[in-house]
Amino acid sequence: MPSQDTVVTMKNRPGLSLQSKFVLITTVAIIVLMGIIGYMAVKREKNIQYADVENQGRLLGDTLAIPIINDLIYERLGLVEEGGLLDNYIMEIFNKKDVDLLYLTILDEDGKVISHNNITEYGKVYSDPLTVKALKANNTVVQQFSHSGDSSMDFGVPLSIGKKRWGTLKFGISLKKVEQESLATISKIIISTLFFLAGGFVIILFLSRRFIGPITQLANTMEKARGDYLDVKVDVKGSDELAALGERFNSMIERIKQANEEIQRTHENLVKSEKLASIGILAAGVAHEINNPLGGLFNCVQIMRQNGNNPEFREKYLSLVHEGLERIEGTVSKLLWMARKGEHRPVDIDLRHAVNEVYSLVEYKLRKSGVSFTNEISDGLRLAVDPHDFQQVILNLFINAAHAMNNGGSLNVRGYNEDSMLKIEVTDTGEGISRENIRKIFDPFFTTKPPGEGTGLGLWLSYEIIRNYNGEILVESEPGKGSTFMLSFPVNLN
Ligand SMILES: Nc1ncnc2c1ncn2[C@@H]1O[C@H](COP(=O)(O)OP(=O)(O)O)[C@@H](O)[C@H]1O
Ligand SMILES: [Mg+2]
Repeated sequence: MPSQDTVVTMKNRPGLSLQSKFVLITTVAIIVLMGIIGYMAVKREKNIQYADVENQGRLLGDTLAIPIINDLIYERLGLVEEGGLLDNYIMEIFNKKDVDLLYLTILDEDGKVISHNNITEYGKVYSDPLTVKALKANNTVVQQFSHSGDSSMDFGVPLSIGKKRWGTLKFGISLKKVEQESLATISKIIISTLFFLAGGFVIILFLSRRFIGPITQLANTMEKARGDYLDVKVDVKGSDELAALGERFNSMIERIKQANEEIQRTHENLVKSEKLASIGILAAGVAHEINNPLGGLFNCVQIMRQNGNNPEFREKYLSLVHEGLERIEGTVSKLLWMARKGEHRPVDIDLRHAVNEVYSLVEYKLRKSGVSFTNEISDGLRLAVDPHDFQQVILNLFINAAHAMNNGGSLNVRGYNEDSMLKIEVTDTGEGISRENIRKIFDPFFTTKPPGEGTGLGLWLSYEIIRNYNGEILVESEPGKGSTFMLSFPVNLN
């Protein structure tokens, strides 16, 4: 059986449009990039400045150590008043503005304050980790501190000459300036990022218009080209890949259109050839249908010629002639009607009557083969279909049944409503269909009949017609016993 069409829908897809995605991705990319660059720049600058502060501190330590040791020696020797000179010196250094000192102190060998810029510290004994480390060290100890937003770099400088240790100089340099400078750098980076974004946005918009606009247009056009509507075209601008894509799409649509027309033509030709094949069978019946009344007409005409003057005779035979002509006309118009091209206009038809009409077309052939016919469709069972379509399907089934019952049998049609479907069953007692063939009988061109007798298109055509009404055709068959074809149509179809 031909497979159902699959329709891919692109409408109402959730999510962002291509253009928004492009803008979003580029914006995020700029922010991330500026973030990384900014982080690295700030880190590098900070490191450089820390190194500067450290050098400054070490230099300060080295410079201060010698005069302080001298002072301590003088004091020990009693050459100067204890404390006075040292304190003055410490205060003088502390108050100098070129180094941002937080504190400046001199400790003795045990960590006791012997001089400090803050006099309340005198006599205290320090035991913080830096002091402990500095007291034992032979070289300057540096440590970075950060407490409550205020960060500093602390230095511990040993005051010694040779092996003799006089004490430890300790001071802290504020890192506030460094922090402020890096904050300034960060805000500069943020401002330039915003600037980039603002400038970039214009470029991004322009680029997305230029590159994504045509893609969106292409997608919209493709969307429109769904289904049977193929009168669409992408207007191609420029000569880049997108223009090439648009051109290729246009020529593809053109080819699809041609292919569709080709398929349409082929379909019409196939339908024609199946109809032609049916005509063989119909013709025999038609000849019979016409021959009988023709014979009668001939007789009447003979009799009237002899007794033409008798008004009684004339009256009687003229009405017989009329009757005969009507029968012939009926047959011819039925045949013409069957041969007419389908317009697919559903109307409400009486199914029992429609089936009888079809039967009358094949009655001659069936009777000749000794096939009896019963129509069990109840009066008043109706369906909205194009009558031509419906009778085409029934005719195909009857002709197949006639072929399958060359040596007599019975043909039965039933019709009923079941589960909001209207069902019609056409049963014959013919040769049946083998298990192997039953899967293929709806395929176009599948036939078991000799050339000239079968086209293999009857059931395929019937399947196509029924599918147009969202209906279904199924078969059950037992070789040697007969076959039943079941049609079902949804009933609440307008
Ligand atoms: N009522 C039936 N009884 C037995 N075989 C049938 C019947 N209807 C169809 N077939 C099988 O299905 C085949 C395909 O039928 P169809 O499509 O009408 O093509 P065609 O009648 O031209 O062969 C037939 O050749 C026949 O083998
Ligand atoms: Mg057939």
